[in-house]
Amino acid sequence: MCGIIGRVGDGSALESLLTGLENLEYRGYDSAGVAVQNGSGINVRKRSGKVEELKESIGQPLKGEVGIGHTRWSTHGPPTDANAHPHTDESEDVAVVHNGIIENYAALRERLGANGYEFTSDTDTEVIPHLVQYYLDAGFDSETAFRQAIDELEGSYAVTAMVSGEHVLYAARQGSPLVVGMEDGEYFLASDVPAFLEYTDSVVYLEDGDVVVVDENGVEFTDLEGNPITRQPETVEWDPEQAGKGEYDHFMLKEINEQPTSLAQAIEGRIDPANGRIALSDFEPGTFEGIDSVQFVACGTSYHAALYGSLTLNQAGVRSSALLANEYSVSAPPVDDETLVIAVTQSGETADTLNALRQANAEGAQTLTVTNVVGSTAAREADDALFIRAGPEIGVAATKTFSSQAVMLTLLGQRIASDQRGEPRADTESLLAELASMPGAIADVLDDSDAAAIARRYADSQAYFFIGRGLGFPVALEGALKFKEITYEHAEGFASGELKHGPLALVTPETPVFAIFTGEEDEKTLKNAEEAQTRGAPVIAVCPDDHPAVEAADDHLEIADTDQDLAGLLANVQLQLVSYYAADLLDRPIDKPRNLAKSVTVE
Ligand code: F6R
Repeated sequence: MCGIIGRVGDGSALESLLTGLENLEYRGYDSAGVAVQNGSGINVRKRSGKVEELKESIGQPLKGEVGIGHTRWSTHGPPTDANAHPHTDESEDVAVVHNGIIENYAALRERLGANGYEFTSDTDTEVIPHLVQYYLDAGFDSETAFRQAIDELEGSYAVTAMVSGEHVLYAARQGSPLVVGMEDGEYFLASDVPAFLEYTDSVVYLEDGDVVVVDENGVEFTDLEGNPITRQPETVEWDPEQAGKGEYDHFMLKEINEQPTSLAQAIEGRIDPANGRIALSDFEPGTFEGIDSVQFVACGTSYHAALYGSLTLNQAGVRSSALLANEYSVSAPPVDDETLVIAVTQSGETADTLNALRQANAEGAQTLTVTNVVGSTAAREADDALFIRAGPEIGVAATKTFSSQAVMLTLLGQRIASDQRGEPRADTESLLAELASMPGAIADVLDDSDAAAIARRYADSQAYFFIGRGLGFPVALEGALKFKEITYEHAEGFASGELKHGPLALVTPETPVFAIFTGEEDEKTLKNAEEAQTRGAPVIAVCPDDHPAVEAADDHLEIADTDQDLAGLLANVQLQLVSYYAADLLDRPIDKPRNLAKSVTVE
């Protein structure tokens, strides 16, 4: 976890480091720090708390053209000032920021301690500056000392380091993301592109084993031994506007409202309703012909999208299952070369999902990732990648990426089924037409939602339940996850039919039940909702205006009448808004819920 940034160039580094940290704060926000290098050496400012607090506490601007910064999500040691990065050796000759986990840190710490190096934090990271210093003390030059230190690390890392008195940054990547941003005379290193998007859109995605040396004249790309390697810069298409909050109070609300655009981007050029065929020109005709079964692996919200994809695939006649990526190593069903394993991951960097993907690769399955981030680890390690084109998502709670994932998986499911059968499903034309109209249908939900009023009406409830059947089930799970994640209130999602098998015991007049109607055996879902209502629970029906549930329910959130493959996505937008407004009423830090981080790069 954590976000790191480094900058070399003319003029002061501090402002771009702090901007970078603010843009990376979604990766972790329990402590932050910067180290800036000038004629008098390395100056470090770090503390527990958010970047904003760091900024306020810096006082006198730190002068210097080279610097590094870090925003933390704790793994080793609590979020204290001492545990915040950058970490240095005792004399502050070497400063380091790190994202990842150094697995052999205890052994390294013991060895360095025995050699007289004193540690001041509980972190695994602190071994790195001491190790670099150890090699400097042994007489190596800075670059060699850095390489020697990196060579000793086991685990995962994106590391950036600087040595006092040099206008140089040293960086290495193994298992944690690291990108280089390049502008004439100004260079950046960061965990993710939004960190420096204000300054440059020319990036190089580093690969595992890469080591770079950066000064104001450019970037030297090498392997660990120092052999030169070639890495081509790419131009990223995200603009800084997209990564800012604009007129909204929170990124989450902005991203919810971006869904008509992000969905339009996702499907652009990928469907052709006019001739009733699924284009998905990302793949050659017949690509999935030989696929016998599909396994989706993912975590959290992406898992809910995966479950959505798996259900649409089953309904399209293709054997498929959705598996929690963090359970995959202990419970994966067998795979062979006719199994397609699809890793669904917004960030493309989730450790659990990458592990499952690697396992599937090793066991000979065909692999594909559905991700938002070009150049991410998942995109590079899977056999193929399908990009959801949602643009940067900064709010820790995933919103627009869920919709884009679910739509892309619906489309992909149709494509896999049609490749298998040699022809599209009979109702493909109408599904594609509905799909093409989804951006408009979502815009209608956003323009005319009663979610804020519903959130107010049920603000003092004890718990919140979400039920749905078929494709409404993953949406119920997602509705509950979003609600608990940002409001900190108790929320659970259930398959509607499951309510009576136990959870009904929780139902009281203080537990509103959001019932999602997708057109799949709705009469049964209505019965389940009424079972809760009989026990006093208010029911909020999420369904079209002319649906029988509207009469029966206590409240109503309207969605357009659409294909059952897509109705759940409209319902999900209503539920996103309910969660948002409920969290806002409670004055929660909506974009940065406690204890969480956007990209979970630890197991
Ligand atoms: C919840 C949320 C998380 C992520 C999960 C997987 O709102 O965002 O549950 O969905 O950590 O992340 P990715 O999709 O990056 O693999």
